[in-house]
Amino acid sequence: MYGWVFLLLWAGFVDLSVTQHTDTLTCYGSYYASLYAGDDEPIALDCPLECDCPSAYPDAMYCHSRNLRHVPFVPSRMKYVYLQNNQISGITDGVFDNATGLIWIILHMNQLKSDKISNKVFTKLPKLERLFLHHNKLDRIPEGLPRSLQDLRMNHNNISSIPADSFRGMTNLTALRLQSNAIEDLGGALESLQSLTFLDLRGNQLTKIPERLPLNLSQLYLEHNRISTVPVDFLQNRPELRFVRLSHNQLTDNGIPPNTFNVSTLMELDLSYNKLEKIPTISTNLMNLYLQANHIKEFSISSFCRVVDMANYSNLRVLRLEANEISSRDVPPEALLCLRMATNIDL
Ligand SMILES: *[C@@H]1O[C@H](CO)[C@@H](O)[C@H](O)[C@H]1NC(C)=O
Ligand SMILES: *[C@@H]1O[C@H](CO)[C@@H](O)[C@H](O)[C@H]1NC(C)=O
Ligand SMILES: *[C@@H]1O[C@H](CO)[C@@H](O)[C@H](O)[C@H]1NC(C)=O
Ligand SMILES: *[C@@H]1O[C@H](CO)[C@@H](O)[C@H](O)[C@H]1NC(C)=O
Ligand SMILES: *[C@@H]1O[C@H](CO)[C@@H](O)[C@H](O)[C@H]1NC(C)=O
Ligand SMILES: *[C@@H]1O[C@H](CO)[C@@H](O)[C@H](O)[C@H]1NC(C)=O
Repeated sequence: MYGWVFLLLWAGFVDLSVTQHTDTLTCYGSYYASLYAGDDEPIALDCPLECDCPSAYPDAMYCHSRNLRHVPFVPSRMKYVYLQNNQISGITDGVFDNATGLIWIILHMNQLKSDKISNKVFTKLPKLERLFLHHNKLDRIPEGLPRSLQDLRMNHNNISSIPADSFRGMTNLTALRLQSNAIEDLGGALESLQSLTFLDLRGNQLTKIPERLPLNLSQLYLEHNRISTVPVDFLQNRPELRFVRLSHNQLTDNGIPPNTFNVSTLMELDLSYNKLEKIPTISTNLMNLYLQANHIKEFSISSFCRVVDMANYSNLRVLRLEANEISSRDVPPEALLCLRMATNIDL
């Protein structure tokens, strides 16, 4: 009984302190932590009151899901900081200044606004690999992001333009998530990202496929934009690109140059929910083709197989054509020979 009362008082005190003077109370943190911790738990003298710093993970600081409004000062030994699911709207200079060894900063699901993030907060973190800023209220890419980043998430914000130097020097960045923003044009901002393999741009305002995409890209997600044309040779010099998703755009036959998708390295192509009237020519190596919900009027075998015989056939496994203007009656008999590997053909 006594224990419960103490716990409630303690919880009430924490609540008060967090909403009021976060900084001045940080130094009491260790005192309360020492009361709270068992005898065998070494006291983390430098742990901010609002966070947990379990001794089993001496380089991690857990501050998520507790209505924080500010980022607490991060002690120098920390490598991983969890701040997601709070009410943090800004980041002031200095909070990360001592923690130059930080590898992860997890800040998604907060209320972060671009004009409340000081320009220099991330600049002194030469080891930062993972920065999660998704589901916030950012309207631009923070300045001075570390070049060491490998996984950068800024999806579900309100970012509309990307200055050309936003990602300069990030030679180790492999995954970039920018889906559900308001991006109209990327210019050449991504060109120098030589390690980038995963790019998610779903749900933006793009009207064309970004030019000068990084050469090592393997997964490109562009669904739910306003793209109407595909550049000539968009895929020709991209041997690493395996998955291209363009569903829910404004593509027409005229916007797709001949042989655009006839590329032997492509594995999956999603062109569903567009305005195509013809099946584009694909390589016999393609495995999955999604064309549902277009205006396709003809089942053209030549789109899949240039020659049909025992030795020449398509490797297509999944073909989706439902919600078009064709039915199974429109499928010519030789389609069975050409598409003999298919496990799934939906009409
Ligand atoms: C930050 O680091 C400096 C230099 O190592 C040290 O003097 C200072 O006490 C640290 N500040 C905090 C709040 O840990
Ligand atoms: C990229 O990663 C390598 C290997 O981990 C590292 O040596 C290099 O410093 C990193 N580059 C940057 C810009 O941080
Ligand atoms: C997103 O930014 C635009 C200006 O670029 C602004 O008009 C709009 O209100 C913002 N939306 C939200 C949800 O903040
Ligand atoms: C591009 O990808 C290839 C194969 O995955 C890899 O060997 C190469 O190092 C990558 N290039 C860069 C600049 O990361
Ligand atoms: C598709 O590309 C292959 C290999 O480059 C080529 O031989 C073939 O003629 C092309 N298909 C069509 C229909 O143009
Ligand atoms: C058809 O198959 C034969 C035998 O494998 C091959 O020599 C020929 O190049 C193939 N033709 C096409 C157009 O792929």
